Amino acid sequence: MKGKFPIDKFRKLRTPFYYYDTELLRKTLKTINSEAGKHEGFIVHYAIKANANPKILNIICQNSLGADCVSGGEIEASIKAGFPANKIVFAGVGKSDWEIKLGLEKNILCFNVESIAELEVINDIAASMNKVASVAFRINPNVSAHTHANITTGLAENKFGIAMHDMEGAIEEAAKMKNIKFTGLHFHIGSQILDMGDFEALCNRINDLQDELEKHHIKVENINVGGGLGIDYQHPNRMPIPDFKDYFDTYAHHLRLRPWQKLHFELGRAVVAQCGTLITKTLYIKKGTAKQFAIVDAGMTDLIRPALYQAYHKIENISSEEDNDTYDVVGPICESSDVFAKAVDLNKSHRGDFMAIRSAGAYGEIMASQYNCRKLPKGYTSEEMGVES
Ligand code: LLP
Repeated sequence: MKGKFPIDKFRKLRTPFYYYDTELLRKTLKTINSEAGKHEGFIVHYAIKANANPKILNIICQNSLGADCVSGGEIEASIKAGFPANKIVFAGVGKSDWEIKLGLEKNILCFNVESIAELEVINDIAASMNKVASVAFRINPNVSAHTHANITTGLAENKFGIAMHDMEGAIEEAAKMKNIKFTGLHFHIGSQILDMGDFEALCNRINDLQDELEKHHIKVENINVGGGLGIDYQHPNRMPIPDFKDYFDTYAHHLRLRPWQKLHFELGRAVVAQCGTLITKTLYIKKGTAKQFAIVDAGMTDLIRPALYQAYHKIENISSEEDNDTYDVVGPICESSDVFAKAVDLNKSHRGDFMAIRSAGAYGEIMASQYNCRKLPKGYTSEEMGVES
């Protein structure tokens, strides 16, 4: 075993695959629970979209987080993993009828509603099932987060949420509907956010909105601030557990939560990113004129983040201890964007060497595709490989 990776066990497996360090996942969850638990009324949901591997979901649900779902498939996956329906929230701009029915049938905690048109459909479907749907309105707070343009969601021009100036109208509409119960407000400003000032800006915005609503005697039971806490992709070993203390403290200090209110979080990346690694084997070292390529057997179909968002993932050659050399690490897919990293220094690499593409537990396995008729990567946990700490 080199470092934290059981290479001997890896040799028996078909590459590429995801390897999950479940000890780190458990420690991360423990930290989340202890830091959130210091604040009255804080409730943490896990954003299933980040990773829905059943083994991972199972561990998260054993640690009593709720589930944040964005599709009927995610609701099914979370219920199968053991999340109680009354801890499931359901968001998404385009919920289809069967998904709404499923949510109602299972009696989920809340629908995060993104438009009046959707609210009307939920009301009709709930009426036909003789149910009352609990809803929160997703409000677009027009707060800009310092992150990649593709993953900010809280700005005015996004497709998400209801504009702030339409909020009261929406709440009044909901009050008229017999099969709708308005229970809260939902926000989400983006993902991979490391500047606590962005969350502070969200808190200030929510404070203003709440003051406004109170003037109109509107009582809100739940505030949901979404997810978005980022991780350190550059140095996965330096701080494998994100600074949850700072994150929850930011909300505790800046959000004026009313004594009867619950504050919900929907964290995805910060929970699972660092525990996951994409393990791939080096197929060829190809010398070009000006550079050399390490061609590996994983591609953008297994981990699309570098191709889609120019995201950085640290790569390590975990088989070699020779001096560094410089490589472009590329996959086998017939697309020139199938590149994991350009001009990175790695231990001198050879055919057959294992490469570890780090911090890939979030939005990795779950975003894999079968393009080029490739097999989907499997996910293995350290526990099932018998790796002891
Ligand atoms: N809540 C809502 C409403 C969201 O839209 C998201 C993520 C989350 C919670 C969880 O956010 P997190 O804590 O993971 O930042 N595929 C992209 C990330 C897309 C995030 C979409 N929404 C990536 O690989 O970076």
